[in-house]
Amino acid sequence: MTHRILFVCLGNICRSPAAEGVFRARAPHHRTDSAGTSGWHIGDPPYGPMQKAARARNIDLSDLRARQFMAEDFQRFDLIIGMDADNIAGIEALRPEGNHTPVCLLTDFAPDTGADHVPDPYYTRDFVGALDLIEAAVEGLEAHLRGRQ
Ligand code: 4NP
Repeated sequence: MTHRILFVCLGNICRSPAAEGVFRARAPHHRTDSAGTSGWHIGDPPYGPMQKAARARNIDLSDLRARQFMAEDFQRFDLIIGMDADNIAGIEALRPEGNHTPVCLLTDFAPDTGADHVPDPYYTRDFVGALDLIEAAVEGLEAHLRGRQ
């Protein structure tokens, strides 16, 4: 079964494009996209240091371009995944009345890590640590989706 999954962060240039890139490399049969709750980087490619860290793992993010999360995304996707609690608040603020699309944290799929959010590498500069956590959570997400087939 093909799922439509949207990854969301603040800028859509670090965490959510990385999650999209990791996920689409592992599970290309699903439909994926990513977006930012802010409009600060609309049209920009993923941040250089994030692209570099991903490329070191054979994950190419160069075709991705930032866009802003919008209310219509609740209809366009089956599952919306944020990176931290602020992202979830920004997403929920646009939920149309009567819409029940599930919204969750990426770290919900990586309970063994003990993490309750993906720290923003734009500020921490820990691009490798962010990718480690994203890869662990994407593996959990894949297992979750397989279980729902
Ligand atoms: P992201 O990281 O939400 O993981 O894409 C950020 C990138 C840029 C900014 C904030 C967060 N910024 O303030 O420009």
